[in-house]
Amino acid sequence: MSRRRVAAGNWKMNKTAGETRTLIRDLGNKLKGIEHGCEVLVCPPFVALETAVDAAKGTVIEVGAQNASWQKSGALTGEVSPEMLEYLGVTHVILGHSERRSIFGETDETVNARLRHVLSGSLVPIVCVGEGLADRESDRTGDVVRGQLRGSLAEVPADQADRLILAYEPVWAIGTGRTASPEMAAEVHALIRGEIAAIFGDSVAEGMRVLYGGSVKPENAAELLNEDEIDGVLVGGASLDASSFAAIIAAVG
Ligand code: PGA
Repeated sequence: MSRRRVAAGNWKMNKTAGETRTLIRDLGNKLKGIEHGCEVLVCPPFVALETAVDAAKGTVIEVGAQNASWQKSGALTGEVSPEMLEYLGVTHVILGHSERRSIFGETDETVNARLRHVLSGSLVPIVCVGEGLADRESDRTGDVVRGQLRGSLAEVPADQADRLILAYEPVWAIGTGRTASPEMAAEVHALIRGEIAAIFGDSVAEGMRVLYGGSVKPENAAELLNEDEIDGVLVGGASLDASSFAAIIAAVG
């Protein structure tokens, strides 16, 4: 089964609505000159999403959010529901990013609650997993990643799981300039696919896109994407510049 590759930009807390319009316009112009078959996605901050959807009209660029609530509405100060995002024309949402987990106290349980509610609607969730440096150095990568998958994906029915995208982002590689080697990443991607097969069955596992994230740059994207197991990239810093993200998209193909 062939899996359509994805080039996703996680803008984190960067770019005002005005800057978002400019960056999407610049990226859209650059992509006109690139032959690519992959999905292209940008994930700006909540307050820039409406502008982003508007700016992306007529381009191949899709727009995702960086989180979504486990509830449609209610007394949850500071939260945004998937229904609100769908209304804006947003198509994807990142869940369980390591910064949400480490800085804002997200756990596998909260990620799971968000995921299950997102799957009741139409957004495509991108669920992030990845080990910390101490886990990697003590040879616990497999256990940690498998545990995050089991917890974050608990009670998701197999017929909804085929919509899911996963992102493997080793925490020690995010924003640090240290990238996992292509072999290291591919090994964990294979482990993730094996765990997905154990949870949801072979055919879901075979079709699931597993992205790599963590200091992906134009200089290292091509060698990462040489690995069959790597179905695309989730890019932070290097997605904030139209030229560098366009170069990465070209490498994704
Ligand atoms: P980075 O971020 O590319 O800046 O390392 C990746 C991410 O956090 O998704």
